[in-house]
Amino acid sequence: MKVLVVGGAGYIGSHTCVDLVENGYDIVVVDNFSNSKPEAIDHIKEIIGKDFPFYEVDACDTEALEEVFKKEKIDAVIHFAGYKAVGESVQKPLMYYHNNLLSTIVLCELMDKYDCKKIVFSSSATVYGKPDHLPITEDFPLSTTNPYGTTKLMIEQILKDLYTSDPTWSICVLRYFNPIGAHESGLIGEDPNGIPNNLMPYIVKVANKELKELGVFGDDYDTPDGTGVRDYIHVCDLAHGHSLALNKLEKEEGIYYYNLGTGNGYSVLDIVNAFQTVNGVDVPYVIKDRRPGDIAACYADPTKAYEELGFKAQYTLDDMCKSAWNYVTKNK
Ligand code: UFG
Repeated sequence: MKVLVVGGAGYIGSHTCVDLVENGYDIVVVDNFSNSKPEAIDHIKEIIGKDFPFYEVDACDTEALEEVFKKEKIDAVIHFAGYKAVGESVQKPLMYYHNNLLSTIVLCELMDKYDCKKIVFSSSATVYGKPDHLPITEDFPLSTTNPYGTTKLMIEQILKDLYTSDPTWSICVLRYFNPIGAHESGLIGEDPNGIPNNLMPYIVKVANKELKELGVFGDDYDTPDGTGVRDYIHVCDLAHGHSLALNKLEKEEGIYYYNLGTGNGYSVLDIVNAFQTVNGVDVPYVIKDRRPGDIAACYADPTKAYEELGFKAQYTLDDMCKSAWNYVTKNK
């Protein structure tokens, strides 16, 4: 089966490319490097030990993307391409709606035209808004609190409408919790431009002494130590979820929704402590005000993905912290 990975040079996309090839899929990769680097493609090839077709194409560019569909006989698509910074989406909503929605529409139109009707879409736990209780199951009510989240929810709606119009589509919507960590080789990982928004990339830059200290956003939440709790999942576990999703779509038509998380909630201080201990480095921090829009706690009920896909996270928090640091030390 030949899989088009759109956004395959990015953080989750690159790890998924490796997992797909290890699980017997052929890949064709498209990326415009808007938030990734060409080296990622070489590094994926180095890890898997073989070549694959790569196209530097913007997923919103119908003509350029159509050339890829013409040249390659694509059987399924995984759509990772999209802007993903919550704060930036509040500042630049049009840019987010334009890019995230248009790329999906262009992609689905071409898939329809070339009779390729299997798609795995990268959604996010952000579509659960502020959940009433925990853990989160896939049937929870959906809402969003920022334009980035709204693009994810709108795309989920587009895919649902598409399936209703034509039930020969096979669609898998994966709602990611908090991916962290990196491939054990240290060749691919998370490398955001500028000052990171997310916790793990920030911790790494503090440990690396590129940033002075971590700001912990609030210690007065209703959680065991007062800091925010999230469901952190190793990016390699998350990547494997995509191979399992494709496996399901190969066999069944339909539209499916799965949480990809571990089911464990860790606080900000749990992460800081684990990172310091496992890597033997210091991560100085100060307590700051709560970050607007943050919720106290968020973690998945991963039962449905386990029962229907056979998905189960294998890596521990220590593995996640160790691999995140390994990536940075190898790429200094
Ligand atoms: N945090 C800090 N200091 C920082 C950064 C984060 O204390 O410098 C805290 C946050 O307050 C939160 C936790 O660390 O409690 C995790 O924050 P992240 O920014 O790493 O992740 P979020 O859970 O806020 O957001 C992530 C993705 C979003 C996605 C959301 C879905 O970044 O894209 O999960 O739940 F929408």
